[in-house]
Amino acid sequence: MPTYSALAAADPAIHAALQGEMLRQQEGVELIASENYVSPAVLETMGTVFNNKYSEGYPGKRYYGGQEFTDVVESLAIERAKQLFRCGHANVQPHAGCPANVAMYFALLEPGDCVLGMDLSHGGHLSHGHPVTYLTKIFRFVRYGMKDIETGELDYDAMLETAKKEKPKIVLAGYSAYPREVDYAKIKTIAEEVGAYAVMDMAHIAGLIAGGVHKNPFDYGFDVVTTTTHKTLRGPRGGMILSKDAEIGKKIDKSVFPGFQGGPIMQMIAAKAVAFGEAQKPEFKEYAAQIVKNSKHLAQYLMDRGAKLVTNGTDNHLMLVDCIRSWNVPGGEVETVLDSIGITLNKNSVPNDQRKPMDPSGVRIGTPAITTRGMKEKDMEILADFMLTAIERRGDSAALRTLHEEVKVFCKKFPVPGIA
Ligand SMILES: Cc1ncc(COP(=O)(O)O)c(C=O)c1O
Repeated sequence: MPTYSALAAADPAIHAALQGEMLRQQEGVELIASENYVSPAVLETMGTVFNNKYSEGYPGKRYYGGQEFTDVVESLAIERAKQLFRCGHANVQPHAGCPANVAMYFALLEPGDCVLGMDLSHGGHLSHGHPVTYLTKIFRFVRYGMKDIETGELDYDAMLETAKKEKPKIVLAGYSAYPREVDYAKIKTIAEEVGAYAVMDMAHIAGLIAGGVHKNPFDYGFDVVTTTTHKTLRGPRGGMILSKDAEIGKKIDKSVFPGFQGGPIMQMIAAKAVAFGEAQKPEFKEYAAQIVKNSKHLAQYLMDRGAKLVTNGTDNHLMLVDCIRSWNVPGGEVETVLDSIGITLNKNSVPNDQRKPMDPSGVRIGTPAITTRGMKEKDMEILADFMLTAIERRGDSAALRTLHEEVKVFCKKFPVPGIA
């Protein structure tokens, strides 16, 4: 493990917490679908002196001097992002996924305008207009959903009907807990029919698109794509907004800065550039393909042993297990039991959930992080067996302790980049 000796000397309390976290990551299995482990190069870049620099503005047009090197890293991040996702414009400054979405809304909408996005209980994200967010004080959000929860197919007819009735300015695709690929051509046609922008929030599947295993919305005429950079894309925590052309790009740039943010977080932009460079390499294609292979294999293995999955399978890096229908155990209890044996995932609502959001019926399982550690299909079976045994023997604390030790031994075979 790295020693972080300067930190140890300066602040023992934070150093101790960091050591605990490194051990937790090394000895545990990470199945949270939105998490990943960055490479040592990306990790190193985040801790550099680029942190010390204020760079308000954009490359070549900054408010402060001393930008010869910050301009280099931001320009490289922009160029690599454009190549990776085959689009005309990239803004790499959003601090995270939610700020990227907020800046996108303000670039494309006027207050009171309407957004047509996925029903949040069918997998949409908070920043797609959840009533608890400030966004709903400014914009109007209306919904589409799945036509059939057993297949996950979206209801494109209802989407068109709602679009004609509500006249949205944005038709929004992109989801946090939806295991299927969607038909971008149909969504674009619907957006075009009502004169709306077609926007995709690819936060969860950016790495799958970059790696060529999922379709790229720009190939179907989408206008704008927002994303986080830290999930399947395996970069630093951050956000990004891509646009099909420079004209929309200008609106996005003005909205991010000065509209919404101040100085960009330059060490993160440098780390984004490094991560995008990694994603351009052939190995990343293999990585992205393996994420999906692992996910499909794990899903099938669980289903063969009686688990009920929303949409009965997956096309991407995640699956949603309906724990009530599978084992008559709430999602929160499954999360707690698995946590006790060193397997981390999150409880999640399932579509039309009868239970409350804080005590939902399901759990979400994702394979991006374990795939980074080098796990393959046969390891999915070992993991599934750990999980199924723990759920079955959840009242038996001795059995859970034994399983926890077995999980630790299993994890030793798969070093975490940046720790081991
Ligand atoms: C689809 C989607 N968009 C946006 C976000 C927000 O990202 P952040 O947490 O970086 O603000 C998430 C995060 O999980 C997400 O799943």
